Amino acid sequence: MVTTILKKDGLDIENSVAIVCGPPIMMKFVTFKLLDLGFKDSQVYLSMEKNMSCGIGKCGHCRIGPYYACKDGPVFTYDRIKGLPNIWD
Ligand code: FES
Repeated sequence: MVTTILKKDGLDIENSVAIVCGPPIMMKFVTFKLLDLGFKDSQVYLSMEKNMSCGIGKCGHCRIGPYYACKDGPVFTYDRIKGLPNIWD
């Protein structure tokens, strides 16, 4: 599992970003692991395209709180969407 191979060893976390893409459950636990390692919310980039359908801001399927993944993303830093409902669904 990704969470078991992520280690702080050799990482210059202060000068790094993490880009997370994959199944929502994996993204959730990888994000939490990255935060445990010392990454700031703003250093974690999440690819949130999973619910996109029309891709042009009309269907609303990709809505994440006040954002549309298709128009405002699909990549968001964790600090932008942290606390919004259902981000890991
Ligand atoms: S994919 Fe339809 S509104 Fe974003």
